[in-house]
Amino acid sequence: MSGEPNKILIVDDESVIRELMIDILSEEGYSVEAAPGALEALEILKEDRNFVLLFTDIMMPKMDGIELIREARRINPTLIPIVMTGYATLESARAAVKEGAYDYVLKPFSLSEIKIAVANALERYQLANENTRLLELTELFNISENVATFHDERMLLDYVLKAALNRVGAERGSIMLVSADGTSLDVAASIGVPEEAQRDRVQIGNGISGWVAEHGTALIVEDIGKNPDLKEISRQLKDASFISVPLERKLSSNSPAAKPSSNGNNGVLAVLNVNRKKSGGHFTEGDLKILSIVANHTAIALENVRLIDDVKDAHLATLKSMTLVLEAKDPYTHGHSERVRNYSVMAALKMGLNTVDVETLRLGAMLHDVGKIGVSDTILNSVEKLTDEEWNQIKLHPVIGYDVLKPVGFLTKAHLRLVRSHHERLDGSGYPDGLTGDELDDLVRIIAVADTYDAMSSNRAYRRGIPPDVIVEELKRCGGTTLDEKVSSLFVDLIESGEIDQFARCEPGTS
Ligand SMILES: [Fe+2]
Repeated sequence: MSGEPNKILIVDDESVIRELMIDILSEEGYSVEAAPGALEALEILKEDRNFVLLFTDIMMPKMDGIELIREARRINPTLIPIVMTGYATLESARAAVKEGAYDYVLKPFSLSEIKIAVANALERYQLANENTRLLELTELFNISENVATFHDERMLLDYVLKAALNRVGAERGSIMLVSADGTSLDVAASIGVPEEAQRDRVQIGNGISGWVAEHGTALIVEDIGKNPDLKEISRQLKDASFISVPLERKLSSNSPAAKPSSNGNNGVLAVLNVNRKKSGGHFTEGDLKILSIVANHTAIALENVRLIDDVKDAHLATLKSMTLVLEAKDPYTHGHSERVRNYSVMAALKMGLNTVDVETLRLGAMLHDVGKIGVSDTILNSVEKLTDEEWNQIKLHPVIGYDVLKPVGFLTKAHLRLVRSHHERLDGSGYPDGLTGDELDDLVRIIAVADTYDAMSSNRAYRRGIPPDVIVEELKRCGGTTLDEKVSSLFVDLIESGEIDQFARCEPGTS
């Protein structure tokens, strides 16, 4: 738009005034149009959103200047209105200023009065524009900076959707992710979308989002009612104004995160949809530009999160297989880590622990004995009574495991505590640090019972599994002295009801 003359609309029922104003302002280099009344003016403004200034008379038939200003600004919120009036309606001019008119000029006016009023108004327009641009840039910068900090896909998408809706003043929106096979879209984040629509799976190529995903092209519709072609492909958007933007892959298709899709691999990862402008107005090209920038940054962040997830999954798989390889060498401990994980998660769920704690236990328990890789097989698999020296070797495994896992970035202190402290006891009789009471957190207390229960209930090279009634007695004896009382009595209940057996093979809390 820069370089083009500023557009001014003159509205007056007197043709002499209209012609005079056109002459004065055209000569100044502005692009000027005129309308004989408010209704005609509104039609012109609807057709062309590039008008900067509205010069209007106040006293006009059908609709007065004040009403016109109100309506005109609904169509074009950045339009600057100036009213022209005679002395008789000076009060109305002041009322118009209260309604949002920037200025007023009194008839009969001089050439210079008009020029000054226009120059002042344009200066304000430019300033306001610059301020808006600066504000937009700052907000966009903040959004871009924030999206780069997420490590979780769902949290990233929720944040982006909220920020996008806020930024363009929309009430409703969603982000739909392209499925792994590239054939459909599923809602991954939504605000204000009815629940049944959130579950909708859209085939690529169907509906607005499907079209955007297929073509990799953004769509902006000011009024769906006026777009018969789109109305056919839109399903629920009646008379709505909306924007749909693709989130496109930026990495090369060789990148591990750039998973190929069967729809021609056009690189679209997701579609961001916004609709229903809060003000009741329409979305603009400016809104589209902002959403496209947000979509670009989000696509990069999404790829990064997925890349990190892939690396994390690979790393985890290695760690888990270390434990499995270890257990595979000894048929008597086969499946021990998985069972301790199952019992621990089950206890955590029954005790109402939060999701973070449950998931910490799920992974920490799976890895708790990984340090046994540092203990010789002959000791681990010995059927003879162990010597003191051999016991001391075994007792090193929590510390070895802790040292092995400590450099792994995505393992938290809570994970590491589970590995290091699963043999600690409330009375200080455990190892390796001889911790007591309050030094043992809930998760460590849970894994200690789960580990003990599995050790007692499974067969060993040198003995068969201990019968349930004996285990119950043992847990009752240890509860409150070496093991946590609450956790022990929970296990007692589960053993007595037989419920515990189903968790020996089945991992709880996964769907
Ligand atoms: Fe252990």
